[in-house]
Amino acid sequence: MTEPVLINLTGKQSQIIVEVGEFAEILYWGKPVQGALENYRKSLYRPVPFGRLDKDVSMTLSPELGRGVFSSPGVEGHRDGLDWAPVFVVQQIVEIDTGVRIESVDELAGLSLTTELCLDADDVVKTRHTLTNLKAGVYQVNRLANTLPLPARVNELMTFFGRWVHEFQTARQPLIHGGYQQENRRGRTSHEHYPALIAGQQHFDELQGDVWGFHFAWSGNHRMRADVKADGRRLLQAEVIYFAGEVSLAQGESVTSPWLYASYSDKGLNGMSQQFHAHVRHRILPKEFVAKPRPIHLNTWEGIYFNHDPEYIMSMATQAAAMGVERFIIDDGWFKGRNDDKAALGDWFLDERKYPQGLTPVVEHVNQLGMEFGLWFEPEMINKNSDLYRQHPDWLLAVEGYEQPTGRNQYVIDLQNQEAFDYLFERLDHFLSTYNIAYIKWDMNREVVQPAHGGMAAAHKQTQRYYQLVDKVRAKHPNVDIESCAAGGGRIDYEVLKRTHRFWASDNNDALERQTIQRGMSYFFPPEVMGSHIGASHCHSTRRRHSIEFRGLTALFGHMGIELDPVKESQEEKQGFEHYVKLHTALRPLLHSGTTWRIPSEDKAHQIHAVVSQDKSQAVVLVSQLAMPTYSLSGHLRIVGLDPESTYQVSVIDKPENFNHIVACQPEWTASGCKMSGEWCQNVGLTMPILDAESAILIELKRVS
Ligand code: DGJ
Repeated sequence: MTEPVLINLTGKQSQIIVEVGEFAEILYWGKPVQGALENYRKSLYRPVPFGRLDKDVSMTLSPELGRGVFSSPGVEGHRDGLDWAPVFVVQQIVEIDTGVRIESVDELAGLSLTTELCLDADDVVKTRHTLTNLKAGVYQVNRLANTLPLPARVNELMTFFGRWVHEFQTARQPLIHGGYQQENRRGRTSHEHYPALIAGQQHFDELQGDVWGFHFAWSGNHRMRADVKADGRRLLQAEVIYFAGEVSLAQGESVTSPWLYASYSDKGLNGMSQQFHAHVRHRILPKEFVAKPRPIHLNTWEGIYFNHDPEYIMSMATQAAAMGVERFIIDDGWFKGRNDDKAALGDWFLDERKYPQGLTPVVEHVNQLGMEFGLWFEPEMINKNSDLYRQHPDWLLAVEGYEQPTGRNQYVIDLQNQEAFDYLFERLDHFLSTYNIAYIKWDMNREVVQPAHGGMAAAHKQTQRYYQLVDKVRAKHPNVDIESCAAGGGRIDYEVLKRTHRFWASDNNDALERQTIQRGMSYFFPPEVMGSHIGASHCHSTRRRHSIEFRGLTALFGHMGIELDPVKESQEEKQGFEHYVKLHTALRPLLHSGTTWRIPSEDKAHQIHAVVSQDKSQAVVLVSQLAMPTYSLSGHLRIVGLDPESTYQVSVIDKPENFNHIVACQPEWTASGCKMSGEWCQNVGLTMPILDAESAILIELKRVS
């Protein structure tokens, strides 16, 4: 290709202009612009300063050392020490759904690089590369990174960090020389570095500012980097971390990077999240998952742990059904020899000592009560104390001769071992074919240490084989819902979501902690894919106590469930569960299809979360008091996202029992309700009531004219 061409990708709120000549460079990514593209091109040619290379160097979609780009290259590899700095030349551009495929070749190095870049109607960009070895001799790939440019005005980042029972914590930091880099080497998406970050102009917030959000759709090791170059240009890179020798391409073989998803909004973090949520609903989740109401769960884990007695479990199911639960799930502890977390992983056979009559009576009982039945599995794991390990000690994902540390007493199974893969599929298939199972919880409780197949590093392929195993199960059992869980929220990303229905956000059911975790998760995920359970009043992971109102309202917006032993709960608690199950069922169509707003508050001790229906006729607003109010008056609640010209009836539909007793008087509207225009709600607002720490109220707005 000689004459550069301009490619114009447009969404509703954003636009990307790419110049493609010998190479591809994004010239612009921001608000939509009008006018002849030719003029923009001229207006963007850069000067060439002294003291640098003598020509302008572009920031391409895959930076190349050979073109004089000194930042981290898009491709790194070699052929026995040769062909290590490829320079690709574009051969052709092909139109694909919502974007382009740009095919380029380096004849000398004998490599081709194909770049896909798309922008859809929800304003979400996706990009990935495919590297192919065209000539004889193995090409060793060390890195293959997705790269997108950031404008020079980007100088602040919002990043995510966490750990078990403390997922999706956020941090803000300046983006300056030296940049920012995060690496996850834990073998699954990880609690530590969820593969996403948000970049923007300093002080961007929920409602204002230019923001660019990035999510790397990969459930294994990754690196994300935001760089500032010496000339002030910035870029974002996301890639799989390949361990030594992991990816080697024989002639004709290719490797494709995972998709990097990105979205620009000039309306702050809410605008960005709303675009990602729409994308998840329209393009990530299979259509049939979106249409189906998400059944309310009762999960046995925190209720009985490993202590399984079918008669007792059936009584739990009876109680659950009476509370309005729609799906009953037997968690860990049901299979042969699984009496604690030290043994039996891998032995996916029913424990006949615990279930002497088999599983059928329990499944039938659950179904007769009108509920679906679900079962827990942890397919990728093995305990040394298991029949499976005794028969197949060579099935471990490990380097022979080394003793790796266990995690929760367990090891990982090598999914590249075809026999092991087939065994796991057969076991899952057996249960799904034998019993009326509507859902499985697919857990993964250990980080991956020194992963190897045949002695060679195997982290990348292990993740691919995990996808293949889930895909195979889904292909055979398309009506079975799957939850992705990894010691809580250790495997939450868009690539898993293409093949699963929901995520277990955290093993922390403490309502106060959940408020922060769920808010962190909301930046990239809509509420319906987030499993959120009401736990016992005495939280198992923090030992805090919370009222049923605070627990119920905190679990209300997500894919709701209950996780405790209903048989042991008091009548009062059970009435509480029933109440929140009813409330969730009534609001579910709105909560799981509406637009999410994280509403800023005048008091940091509040967290405010709203969902507004797509036609703006209805909204619910959850005001949570996370800590002591800072002042004796709590300011105003200004609700955004409504139709300014409509009038709404505002009413408090759920509140703490002691709401009216903790102050001399609460604002009048909290008792009698009031009518407000959407404009008033947004600009003037309502006086905030006073709440005790760790309590919440739910407000409903319904359009009356
Ligand atoms: C970890 C999960 O996150 C829990 O919800 C539970 O399923 C346990 N594993 C069971 O071992």
